[in-house]
Amino acid sequence: MHISTKTPKCFLAGHTGLVGSALYEQIKQQGQYELITCPHKQLDLTCQNEVESFFDTHRPDIVILAAAKVGGIQANRTKTADFIYQNLMIQSNVMHQAHRFGVKKMVFYASACTYPVKAAQPVTEDQMFAGPAEPTNAAYAEAKRAGVIMAQSYAHQHQMNVITIVPANLYGPGDNFNEQDSHVIPALIWKFHKAKQEQAPSVKVWGSGKAIRDFLYVDDLAELTLQLLEKYDSPEPINAGSGEGTPIGNLIETIQQITGYQGRIDFDTSMPDGAPKKVLDCTKLTQLGWKAQTPLHTGLMQTYEWFLRRLKTHENIRK
Ligand SMILES: NC(=O)c1ccc[n+]([C@@H]2O[C@H](COP(=O)([O-])OP(=O)(O)OC[C@H]3O[C@@H](n4cnc5c(N)ncnc54)[C@H](OP(=O)(O)O)[C@@H]3O)[C@@H](O)[C@H]2O)c1
Repeated sequence: MHISTKTPKCFLAGHTGLVGSALYEQIKQQGQYELITCPHKQLDLTCQNEVESFFDTHRPDIVILAAAKVGGIQANRTKTADFIYQNLMIQSNVMHQAHRFGVKKMVFYASACTYPVKAAQPVTEDQMFAGPAEPTNAAYAEAKRAGVIMAQSYAHQHQMNVITIVPANLYGPGDNFNEQDSHVIPALIWKFHKAKQEQAPSVKVWGSGKAIRDFLYVDDLAELTLQLLEKYDSPEPINAGSGEGTPIGNLIETIQQITGYQGRIDFDTSMPDGAPKKVLDCTKLTQLGWKAQTPLHTGLMQTYEWFLRRLKTHENIRK
């Protein structure tokens, strides 16, 4: 990346979210960029005029697009229009204005959900378009696929330096603990925490526990993003995973243990598991000399501690 000697201005979109808040802290600590942020209620990224005017005013050198419509299985399979519309609009508006205002480098996040449900495991980046995505998150996945093509198209036609990072399942402090649209880890933490408080005899969990997922701690992704901003300059997607597959059943046992819940676990097999296995091949990252540093148990402990602190101070648990 070639940027002038003054401190580059970095627009971090979605700075209050899981990924955005981890990036916010690291950028603040390192001080390598002048941060530009704006809360959702003051800048709706689905609105073309607002995004254009924001870029015109702030003229960022770098854009990290950590804003998106994101959620767990239940939200994905019910709010399908929200997922496709909001993601298409946010990424189109931000990428197009980044191009128009001469942004030097942009980061776009796709997702492991973008890969075909039947992709060979661990999933390599070249399988992105090799078949349909998992039906329970098809609207989100197709929007993300469009984002990948968009990044490649802007790179091809306009020589824009836009990179696509494909994260595995993320978790960590700052996650969305809202019962309606949370991902598996915050949903389980809530469930077990509540069951312990209420001394419930059992906890019902969705699915069979057999599905295998790749869980990446959000601080590891933030650290990786900042490294890739410096040393990865290709529109070809790059996977960002932990390098390990964890059966959901094992995850459940670990969260049960961390929360100290001692009752029974009932698997509700009438609920969907989602894709049977989603683990990312991280050869490209290994070649760049990067490896995730946070073991799952440590990351879960830190997430639970964050959750407990938030409950204690009666802060909004969403963020
Ligand atoms: N979480 C995962 O497991 C995961 C896995 C793979 C890839 N990713 C990708 O990583 C990126 C970040 O995800 P995340 O988990 O950090 O999401 P998140 O926690 O839900 O945060 C999303 C952020 O975007 C903001 N936002 C949403 N709609 C907006 C809009 N119309 N205008 C302005 N801001 C808006 C949100 O603000 P408000 O909360 O105020 O609305 C929030 O700050 C996304 O591209 C996602 O697809 C996430």
